Amino acid sequence: MKTLLRIDASARINGSNTRVLADYFQTKWLSHNPEDKVIHRCLASNPIPHITNETIKAFQHADELSSNRTLSDTLIDELKRADHLLIGSPLYNLTLPSTLKAYFDHVVRAGLTFEVRQGNYRGLLTGKTATLITARGSKSSPTDDFQTTYLRKILAFIGIDAVDVVALDGLTLDQQTKEKAISCAQQQIDDLLNRTVSPVWQGEFSEYDKQQINFLRAGQADAIVKGDAQAYAELCADNIQLLIPSQDVITGRNALLEAEQKLFSRTKFASFQKIPLHIERSGNLAVEVGRQEVTMHKHHDTDGIFSTCQKYTHVFRLTPQGWRFAMLMSNPNE
Ligand SMILES: Cc1cc2nc3c(=O)[nH]c(=O)nc-3n(C[C@H](O)[C@H](O)[C@H](O)COP(=O)(O)O)c2cc1C
Repeated sequence: MKTLLRIDASARINGSNTRVLADYFQTKWLSHNPEDKVIHRCLASNPIPHITNETIKAFQHADELSSNRTLSDTLIDELKRADHLLIGSPLYNLTLPSTLKAYFDHVVRAGLTFEVRQGNYRGLLTGKTATLITARGSKSSPTDDFQTTYLRKILAFIGIDAVDVVALDGLTLDQQTKEKAISCAQQQIDDLLNRTVSPVWQGEFSEYDKQQINFLRAGQADAIVKGDAQAYAELCADNIQLLIPSQDVITGRNALLEAEQKLFSRTKFASFQKIPLHIERSGNLAVEVGRQEVTMHKHHDTDGIFSTCQKYTHVFRLTPQGWRFAMLMSNPNE
């Protein structure tokens, strides 16, 4: 079980683009990892005060009582517990919101989140990852973006250097630009999360076994998007079984080939993505459960696309030719 620490810096509670995208990220994150915990810090509804003379004195003298130090300790504790940090931050007057700067002034503390050794600074919050969702009204301009540069630097300073940035640009230009920015950002988040998910392998799998099974999954996606039934059939064992909800079971490679040829003649797939969650080996078999997200063109000659999301169970068999699909079963659409 992991912990996601989400920090929203937009002063807007409603109508905030960074919040909408952070919601999207959080929902997707939890759908990948339903057991995970989320700590939410909203800097608009629960602002962090600026540091004061007393705060600095308290940071320097551990015996000094200060409510600001208590707040700082709480914020640092949240950061330490987090495996992944999600920050939603709009560009305000060429830089980050002052509320977020105040947050960092409380968590960047010598001996707790960084240390100085022989004159060198070293971040102490290592092993964590972060995603920044930034937003701006205008088109991006590397010369006047003091926000992303700063956020990357300060996170690296405390030891978090694996940082992905999802940037929403041009949000106040026109509706079309805004919609495009949001859908690109959603796609980027999907890609990021799919990249970070790796299945739990249970039982004895060599690196070669893992490589072959991953290859089968990738090969299946490729064959489906290309509409290549032959390439798909070659990934399957002779006695493959295909179980599709409310359809007859299809048994054998030739029957699968025929069924896929029929399917590809009337359906064109825009994308096919599997997110394997758990794979367990038992002798020459391996059972995998996961989720698949599929987008299809409504008709061959139109651009309309619809998507489905399903759970699946697959069985792989180790044959003399290597690992092959032995059983493909998808649950009804979610
Ligand atoms: C106080 C303030 C300052 C802003 N400064 C900039 C700026 O310097 N450059 C820019 O491109 N957009 C600027 N914007 C636009 C915001 O970055 C943009 O509206 C963004 O979507 C706000 O994030 P939110 O939708 O999550 O609230 C500013 C907005 C506000 C409210």
